[in-house]
Amino acid sequence: MREDEFMVTRHLDHLVARGNTSDVYLWGEDAVVKVLRPEIPHEWAMREATTTRMVHTAGLPAPAVLDTTTIEDRPGIIFERIPGVSMWEQMLANPREIPELATLLARLQAEVSATPAPIGMPALIDRLRENVAAAGVLSHAEREAALDELANQKTGNTLCHFDVHPNNVLMGPDGPIVIDWFDAAAGDPGADVVRASVLMRHDAALGHLPCANPAIIDQVHDRYLATVVQIRDLDPGELPRWERTVLASRLAEPTPEPVKRATYDTWVALGNSKASRLTESLKSMDPGHPLRTDLS
Ligand SMILES: Nc1ncnc2c1ncn2[C@@H]1O[C@H](COP(=O)(O)OP(=O)(O)OP(=O)(O)O)[C@@H](O)[C@H]1O
Ligand SMILES: [Mg+2]
Repeated sequence: MREDEFMVTRHLDHLVARGNTSDVYLWGEDAVVKVLRPEIPHEWAMREATTTRMVHTAGLPAPAVLDTTTIEDRPGIIFERIPGVSMWEQMLANPREIPELATLLARLQAEVSATPAPIGMPALIDRLRENVAAAGVLSHAEREAALDELANQKTGNTLCHFDVHPNNVLMGPDGPIVIDWFDAAAGDPGADVVRASVLMRHDAALGHLPCANPAIIDQVHDRYLATVVQIRDLDPGELPRWERTVLASRLAEPTPEPVKRATYDTWVALGNSKASRLTESLKSMDPGHPLRTDLS
């Protein structure tokens, strides 16, 4: 056995976490390697390495990318290791800290939005179009309707993480660090907020927010959204316009079957003017405010 093969075997003994799309292993003392699952397209690793390098260079709290590699035909990214639990683990261990942590989550996202999008960042609207076009759960007619809706959305040029939830923040010794920049893009900041809301719905959080208690996820969602409304220069009444597009795009992602079903059901229900967690939550904050769901 060659020495580098021995090193790989040794390092990959220490599984740090299993995500939806990857396995993360310790890599020496101060690094981790994020190895894509065999079924995930190989080019996804380079995409995440590139966007993470861009935002780290821009000064955002993101892990440094140390290298890229290939292990048993699976591409991997070597990141600086952030020692510490995730914000989600901290919330579950200390429920009394949920309000403060959910507020921090909204503030971290605001920091991302306030950073000029690095040159070369992909356009969110293009990513959304690719995803909606690939959403196999939708019928041909539904997909066409979703693409028509997308054509009326704002393009924007604000930096979006587009996967904001408490399991994508690590509570490092020098402060919180945002990880998982695979979806980062330049687009409309409202889309990034709506995406976070969709990810923090208790019926569609299986996998990325493991938890037996839906009330906890609802509490995080509502506190996050209330902070957004308070601190961001965004019209809350405009946010629901993004919801169906964000849901349709999510249907193209590799998520567990119950998440896919819940996402599709919500997409259909919104088409029939039913309320969602986002609209309920916004209404409870400002019952008199009209919410826009049309795209005119
Ligand atoms: N730089 C890092 N330092 C320490 N731990 C890390 C680091 N990056 C990732 N991890 C660990 O690996 C887990 C999964 O990472 P990440 O969210 O990037 O993977 P993923 O497969 O994209 O996950 P998902 O698709 O479920 O969101 C994290 O929750 C964390 O526990
Ligand atoms: Mg993640």
